[in-house]
Amino acid sequence: MQEFSVTAPAPDAGAAPDAGAAPDAGAAARDWDGATYDRVADQMTRWGGSVLARLPLRGDETVLDAGCGSGRVTAQLLERLPGGRVIALDGSPSMIATARARLAPHGDRVSYVVADLGAPLPLAPASVDAVLSTATFHWVRDHDALFAGLAAVLRPGGRLVAQCGGEGNIASVRRAIADLGWTWEGPWTFASPVDTAVRLARAGFTAIETWLNAEPTPLEAGAPLREYLATVVLGAHTERLPDEERAAFVDAVAAALPEPAIDYVRLNILATRA
Ligand SMILES: C[S@@+](CC[C@H](N)C(=O)[O-])C[C@H]1O[C@@H](n2cnc3c(N)ncnc32)[C@H](O)[C@@H]1O
Repeated sequence: MQEFSVTAPAPDAGAAPDAGAAPDAGAAARDWDGATYDRVADQMTRWGGSVLARLPLRGDETVLDAGCGSGRVTAQLLERLPGGRVIALDGSPSMIATARARLAPHGDRVSYVVADLGAPLPLAPASVDAVLSTATFHWVRDHDALFAGLAAVLRPGGRLVAQCGGEGNIASVRRAIADLGWTWEGPWTFASPVDTAVRLARAGFTAIETWLNAEPTPLEAGAPLREYLATVVLGAHTERLPDEERAAFVDAVAAALPEPAIDYVRLNILATRA
């Protein structure tokens, strides 16, 4: 078995210094590669469009895109808001830079915030009419803190419409990582619909609906699969490795998958701020 010399994560990552050690409950957002994500995020963009279709809008609201990434779903959201505004929030400066470039034609209808969704948000209380979030919540360790933060900025009666990785997500990738000797379970919270509904109610949401759907996603074997894994799935793992071992780790995970595909399971969320 190939061995990898797991090191302490970057100082601001807030995680334990040993990949097999304590959970990183306080892990802050980390930076991503916004330009590469923008290029490979076709699947997330498609899912995002379906999730957005669940958000009723008049067209003049202020909507928070919580984890906007490179802004591809945000652009679809702006089309639904000809007289409205979007707050594009993300923890990654690189993602925000890419989103800013993509969304520049929308001018001051978009404001950009680099912030951690696992902490109280730097937005005024009850200042947004709705929250959209796609492919993001599973990167936030503490969902109680996440939902409390969103509830604080959402006006009473405002909708939360979201989708993220849920219980059972990317099981074959996680198995491949474990088979390489990693005991760290990763940065993710892949929550169940029931746990999520309980947490949302506790945070002050009502009219809650949560459910899972499987989204097995085939990818082109070889370099495209490796690039996708490195950019979209394994970033929190590779940042624990010395630079010279990162590519070999991604190659090893790709090689250990039963097929060139990601067995995604999505957690869907609809809720209203009480
Ligand atoms: C897979 S991307 C999804 C981006 C976009 N919503 C989409 O569907 O294409 C996940 C995003 O979540 C952001 N993210 C992860 N953890 C975060 C946190 N704790 N706070 C804020 N953003 C976070 C990442 O920076 C990244 O842009």
